[in-house]
Amino acid sequence: MDSITSFNKSILLKYIDSASTVVDATLGNGHDTLFLAEHAKEVHAFDVQESALNKAKKLLDDHGVTNVIFHGMSHHRMDEVISKKVRVVMFNFGYLPGGDPTKTTKTHSSLIALEKALDRLEKGGVVTLALYPGHKEGKKEAKALEAYVSTLEMTRYQAIAYKPLNAIESPYSIIIEKRKD
Ligand SMILES: C[S@@+](CC[C@H](N)C(=O)[O-])C[C@H]1O[C@@H](n2cnc3c(N)ncnc32)[C@H](O)[C@@H]1O
Repeated sequence: MDSITSFNKSILLKYIDSASTVVDATLGNGHDTLFLAEHAKEVHAFDVQESALNKAKKLLDDHGVTNVIFHGMSHHRMDEVISKKVRVVMFNFGYLPGGDPTKTTKTHSSLIALEKALDRLEKGGVVTLALYPGHKEGKKEAKALEAYVSTLEMTRYQAIAYKPLNAIESPYSIIIEKRKD
């Protein structure tokens, strides 16, 4: 079976084309941004860690990628720098593998960021969430985000989960498609 990230990427490929403006809300080491940049017209990428931004910039440079706009700021402020509608927003929550676990995404700002992502999303666009309930803040965050997504009006959004049922604390995925504005 596909890992959460592979599953999310396979879904994203159905939505992105060479005319798409997309968002990587959690840049990290830049692997997800590289994937998005290879398929979209333009990627807005967010991270709060200077070290992540530097590492990701190097990775993207090494691959000759030039269609990424970097934002060294929290994703919950994405509306301040993105004025047009976007096709896709990708969230890969948590902290960098091997990095500082205190630099993890936090429930409060993650909720605001998701609301803003849904607001910026064009009709027919999609948001993917990779969630990690295996650590304390990740568990709280996953619970709060899942509860919020469950309240989304079904005439406007379709939301599904890709979730292991016999491994409770394993990572899982939520996909939200905007049906209408
Ligand atoms: C699991 S990692 C992302 C992995 C990344 N997409 C990749 O391909 O390597 C989560 C990232 O979210 C970042 N982050 C934490 N809080 C954030 C926030 N409020 N806004 C944007 N990024 C944040 C962390 O610094 C970390 O780099």
